[in-house]
This record gives sequence, structure tokens and C-alpha cells, in this order.
Amino acid sequence: MKKGKTLYGLLACVTILFILSALVDNYIIDPGAEGFLSEKTGLKRELNLPVWLNVMYVHVAFACIAMASGLLNFYNRIFEKSRKFHRINGYVYLVSVLLVVLTSGYMAPYATGGEISSMGFNALNIIWPVITIVAFVQIKKKRIIRHRNWMIRSYAFCFTNMLIHLITSLFHQGFGLVYATSYTIGVYGSIVLLLVIPEVIIRTTGQSREVVVPHK
Ligand code: HEM
Repeated sequence: MKKGKTLYGLLACVTILFILSALVDNYIIDPGAEGFLSEKTGLKRELNLPVWLNVMYVHVAFACIAMASGLLNFYNRIFEKSRKFHRINGYVYLVSVLLVVLTSGYMAPYATGGEISSMGFNALNIIWPVITIVAFVQIKKKRIIRHRNWMIRSYAFCFTNMLIHLITSLFHQGFGLVYATSYTIGVYGSIVLLLVIPEVIIRTTGQSREVVVPHK
């Protein structure tokens, strides 16, 4: 119980700080994404800047909504107080994930690092919605523990951007690799970590017995 609370507190701090930094960075400090776009070299197709930027704004907005709504739905006290809020907020999360993936589908062909990075993003565009839909199917079948575990797997992907940038910085600034290569490593490294870390969390905090919770 205490372990769960500590983990949730840590998750809440990281998530809130990341949401704030994503909003400030992308809408206030660098709304033209000049820093990020300057690393795109040798693009195979021409990037329509106004369209790309607007898609990116929508992408970041729904990514932040997904992160916030997911965080709230993992908070036990809210779940215990109002099952209705949990349900509505769950649909907000589902729609947000689908919009993040849709906008990602537009941006993927122009990904930093070229075609290999694009392929990684396209894999993410399949993996994330599939995992999220599995989580929803589980709750439709009233399998609470499986729903919880699949939601942990789904929510992990909200940290894709954070992990990509952490891994990219490690390889670019730490090991001196060129930015584009570091970014590609970041894309694939984050896919692996985002599949592995939730399994560790499920095993350390998990419940093995399925329980059926009556609707409120
Ligand atoms: C949920 C948390 C996420 C946030 C806050 C987020 C945020 C961002 C931001 C700010 C950018 C602009 C470039 C940058 O500064 O990195 C971006 C680019 C992008 N994101 Fe996300 N993102 C998230 C999740 C995802 C996921 C899960 C996917 C894939 C399914 C994805 C796919 C993309 C793609 C394809 C790009 C363009 C990359 C490029 O041009 O190289 N994002 N994202």
C-alpha cells in the first residue's frame, strides 16, 4: 500500500513537471519548433511548416490531456469516490490517445533521423492504440485487474517523448553521436523501455487475483 502511494506520488511529480515543460516549451519558448526542426537534415519529402506546426500543437495538447487524465484515473481515492468520473475520464484518455496517434501519423514521415525513425514511430502508432483498446475491452468484460495492468502498459507510452529526449541527450551530449542518430536510438530505445518498465511495475505492485467491482 505504502509502496503504491510512493510510486503514485513520484509519477504525479514527474508527469506534472513534464506536462508544464511541454506546454511552456512548445507554446511559449519555441512555438516555431525552430530548435527541433533545425536538426532535420536531408528530408525526403518537403515539410509544409504551417501544417506541421498546427498538427504538432494538436499533438502536444492531446498528449498532455492523455497524461493528465491517465494520472487522475490511477488515483485510487478518485476511483473509490466516483466510478462515473473514472469512466468519463477514461473515455477522455481513449480519445486523446487516438488523436495523439493520428497526429503522429502525419508527422512520422518527416521524423528526425529519416526513414528508420519513421518506422519506429509507425510501430508506436500501432502498438499504443492496440494496447489501449485491449485495456478498454478488458473493462467491458469486467476484468478489473487485467484492465488495470493493460492501462499501466498503455499509460507508459505517454512518456515516449520524455524518454526519446532523455536517450537522445545521453547519446548526443554524453557520447558525442550526431543528433539524428541519437534521436533514432532514442525512438527504438524508448519503445523497448516502454514495453519492459510496465511489466516490472505490474510485477512489483500487481495483484494476481481477479476481483469484480460492482458499478456505483
Ligand atoms: C504522450 C506524450 C507525448 C508528448 C508530450 C509528445 C510531444 C511531442 C512534441 C513536443 C513533439 C515535437 C518535437 C519534440 O520536441 O520532440 C513531438 C513530436 C512527435 N511525436 Fe510526440 N509526444 C507524445 C507522445 C507520442 C507518441 C506516443 C507518439 C507515437 C505514437 C508520438 C509521435 C510523435 C512524432 C512522430 C513526432 C514527430 C517527430 C519528428 O519530427 O522527428 N508522440 N511529440
